[in-house]
Amino acid sequence: MTDGLIAPHGGTLIINLASQAEQQELRERAQALPQIVIGSRQLADLEQLANGAYSPLKGFLNHADYESVVNTMHLSNGLPWSVPVTLAVSSKQAEKLQEGSEVALVDQADELQAVLTLEEKYTYDKRHEARQVYRTEEEAHPGVKVVYQQEDVLLGGPVRIVSLQQQNFAQYRYTPTQSRQLFAERGWKRVVGFQTRNPVHRAHEYIQKCALETVDGLYLHPLVGDTKSDDIPADVRMRCYEVLLENYYPADRVLLGVLPASMRYAGPREAIFHALMRKNYGCSHFIVGRDHAGVGNYYGTYDAQKIFAEFDPALLGITPMFFDNSFFCRECQSMASQKTCPHGAEHHVTLSGTKVRQLLREGTLPPREFSRPEVARILIEAMREPVA
Ligand code: ADX
Repeated sequence: MTDGLIAPHGGTLIINLASQAEQQELRERAQALPQIVIGSRQLADLEQLANGAYSPLKGFLNHADYESVVNTMHLSNGLPWSVPVTLAVSSKQAEKLQEGSEVALVDQADELQAVLTLEEKYTYDKRHEARQVYRTEEEAHPGVKVVYQQEDVLLGGPVRIVSLQQQNFAQYRYTPTQSRQLFAERGWKRVVGFQTRNPVHRAHEYIQKCALETVDGLYLHPLVGDTKSDDIPADVRMRCYEVLLENYYPADRVLLGVLPASMRYAGPREAIFHALMRKNYGCSHFIVGRDHAGVGNYYGTYDAQKIFAEFDPALLGITPMFFDNSFFCRECQSMASQKTCPHGAEHHVTLSGTKVRQLLREGTLPPREFSRPEVARILIEAMREPVA
């Protein structure tokens, strides 16, 4: 790479989007192919496969890679990969599909999305996947629930993507090629990526800015794919970022883009997955704070940091930047963490998620040391909107 940016995972961006001419051919061929209807998780996976964010993957995992990812957090070629990317169908559907033949993947509206060359169909152990990837077999875990609800046979093989649906957040939906280009234009080489699925608060801002102090640029990269129903919707979160960027961030050091992936809530394993995707988008560094991608009490506060020690840093490529639980300290009169603040918890401004929601629902601004008023006002407004 001549732009000085980090190399993609595996060396080059693997773009599985078909060229215009190929799309035409695939559309014609697909008319005679068996069809599988895919849901929003797989549509999101297809977009990541299309744009290179899943490099080096060429499609849905075949059996050897699936086993290897679930059991060792590496692909069978030895590259780190922590979360399986799979396509499940019922045994009845699978019976009709021939290994070595092509399958048309269509969305709910019957629109052709991609053509899969079916290399393998195989059964899998959902409980084992849950235990390994999510560290629990409980169905109450939202990621585990998705696995349990999936059909019983996995289809593996490369895909060629034919169309990308009309997408929301179009102006922020940079592909890895585009984000790399934007970083290069700004002269950034060391770029820190920030994953988030929650409304931005002062602790987020603090760790982002601490990280930015030591690198060239900050890539704010909220996840906008499927999240739990009680998470704040992506459009509201994006409005919060817009107002924050207008008022508190230097425009030439920060880029806001979206990650069109589904949340898995796999905590530690997902932190690795999130980091690898951001590597493909061109980030050399990645922020991992407290309970990254966690849900409920399934993971220890810093498990998502500890897991990085299980990988060869050279193979991972992207460098994690770890942050302790951060808060505003009234004695220090600044944001801090246990690492930097000597005062007791009674001096710290910390609010539970439940408390914050309660305040916002009542139309009360949380303390400005917790949330910027501009952001809190957007959240209050959003809570007043009738639920669609
Ligand atoms: S996540 O599911 O995307 O991880 P969230 O949007 O809340 O959820 O967090 C985004 C990032 O900020 C994660 O790396 C998380 O660990 C970190 N983070 C969130 N809150 C804090 C905090 N108070 N102190 C330190 N890190 C935090």
